[in-house]
Amino acid sequence: MCGIVALIGSREAAPQLLEGLRQLEYRGYDSAGIATVDGAGLHCLKAEGKLVNLTARFEERGAPGQCGIGHTRWATHGKPEERNAHPHLDGSGQLAVVQNGIIENHRSLREELQAEGVEFRSDTDTEVIPHLIARRLRQRQAEGAKASPALLLEALQQVLPLLHGAYALAVVWAAVPGAVVVARRQAPLLIGLGEGEFLCASDTPALAGFTRTILPLEDGEVALLTPLGIELYDGQGARVQRNPTLLVGTEHVADKRSFRHFMHKEIHEQPETVALWVARHLPEGALVALPLDESVYEGVERIQILACGTSRHAAQVGAHLLEQLAGLPTAVFYASEFRYAPPPLEPHTLTIGVTQSGETADTLAALAMEQDRRFLVADPAYAPRLLGITNRPESSLGRLVPHLLDIGAGIEVGVAATKTFLGQLLAFYGLALAFAERRGGTAHPLGGGRTPAQLRELVEQLRALPAVLQRLVDDHDRCCAELAHLFADTQDVIFLGRGINYPIAMEGALKLKEISYIHAEGYPAGEMKHGPIALLDARVPVVSIAVPGTVFEKVLSNAQEAKARDAQLIGVAPACPDTELFDVLLPLPEVDELLSPLLTVIPMQLLSYHIAAHRGLDVDQPRNLAKSVTVE
Ligand code: F6R
Repeated sequence: MCGIVALIGSREAAPQLLEGLRQLEYRGYDSAGIATVDGAGLHCLKAEGKLVNLTARFEERGAPGQCGIGHTRWATHGKPEERNAHPHLDGSGQLAVVQNGIIENHRSLREELQAEGVEFRSDTDTEVIPHLIARRLRQRQAEGAKASPALLLEALQQVLPLLHGAYALAVVWAAVPGAVVVARRQAPLLIGLGEGEFLCASDTPALAGFTRTILPLEDGEVALLTPLGIELYDGQGARVQRNPTLLVGTEHVADKRSFRHFMHKEIHEQPETVALWVARHLPEGALVALPLDESVYEGVERIQILACGTSRHAAQVGAHLLEQLAGLPTAVFYASEFRYAPPPLEPHTLTIGVTQSGETADTLAALAMEQDRRFLVADPAYAPRLLGITNRPESSLGRLVPHLLDIGAGIEVGVAATKTFLGQLLAFYGLALAFAERRGGTAHPLGGGRTPAQLRELVEQLRALPAVLQRLVDDHDRCCAELAHLFADTQDVIFLGRGINYPIAMEGALKLKEISYIHAEGYPAGEMKHGPIALLDARVPVVSIAVPGTVFEKVLSNAQEAKARDAQLIGVAPACPDTELFDVLLPLPEVDELLSPLLTVIPMQLLSYHIAAHRGLDVDQPRNLAKSVTVE
């Protein structure tokens, strides 16, 4: 994880570095630091905790220079303390490095350096890098080489093959105040081209307010940035020429408008997310129009979906849709599990990777592994067919897979995914409809399927969704704000759902856990009696999602079982005599059961939000988390 920035130009670097870090803070906020270089040497500032602490330190002490690097950290190796904050320096304090990633062989490198007399000041894996570069620079200078940007570049190029793992890094050296070198391997890094200055960063929000002209680094590339320009090299050291591209669709991270938190604002943006999606993909006169090549659909007999966290919950709803609407057998995997224990290969399989950030290391690695093992099979039936679903088409996912569905939800700042989850659900509705249409729109012999008329009816309901969702968000916002005080002393909450709403129960539990730190579990309602029911008493609220359709009565019976154990029952269900058993009702409008996750997720998000806000917690930046999980 972590976010890095680097700047070289003709104005003071520190304010722009801090602004870049502010835009990247969603990637980690355990500590932050900058190092700038001017004729007087290297100036390094670090602070534990949020960026405001570093900004305050900068205001106190300053950091002069027109060249510098910065880092916002999500701790992997070493506690979130100031001494583990980046930048890390060599022994002379003249060379500084920031890194995002993990250096897997850092222990053996550290031992090797320690045997040579190097003293380490942190517990991080990163600190080996400045020491290794400094060692190389000393060797070359002893041979008569003069300090120059080219020498710094060469030293980095010599050190990179020693590092195992994934990284994006930036280096400055006091001996060459007019140069920054950067490199990436399996972690993102982009260069923004300004007027007489260059800004390099882990992600586009840090660049968007600076320039629209960008040069994303490819895997293994190294670049030397000076005020004169960019020199780009591939992993073998050969010079690379590539034209910059234009940054599109990434707005400068917006303010919170009148909302207290980004998460609250992003929950309220969801009716607009749906309206935009409907306008783009449900045009009049067609069932559904997705910007995908026909080859994505042709001959597909089964689907496997790889994802993590909230994205995996969207994938589980997606699997339900693909099976029930299109009759396509679909399996969902934790990307982190799939990678090391994949199922035996099956022919004619579409593999979908779902990741809002497009940078989740587990998901990318699982997709790459699937691609590689399929390339080894001579039979074309087993050839890799990879599709990505993301909110960041310019991400590493976009470069890995040949086909991409952009959910177009706009930048999400709150670490807890809300509008991107809804966007992922919509992508799966689109995909399931597109497959269903191509498979004849009739019940499939293997099970599942709807008639063309039923599919059209579903699309009509989707078209009407933005207005329905707007009312729901407004109403439930009020109800959940009132409900939140009931949870003041709550320690555990159980979320129940069945069928297509089981993943929504799990999503409700995950949202509550991550932002309110209340223990919560999501279960298929029918499973409760097989164990979890032992947890229930008057102190454990149960949130039950009950939508009319195949399992309505079943879920209500399961809720009765919870009530019989004195649990406080909160229903997400239509207002009708059947749902009078709930102590509190978050009422749902009438909707086809298959579309219900698009509605039932709203009270899950709002309940978690208001409970966390009521407890005075840092909703947008919950402890220990980061928006983009770029480590394994
Ligand atoms: C939860 C959340 C995480 C992410 C997970 C995968 O609110 O945001 O569980 O869903 O880390 O992230 P992406 O979708 O970027 O692959």
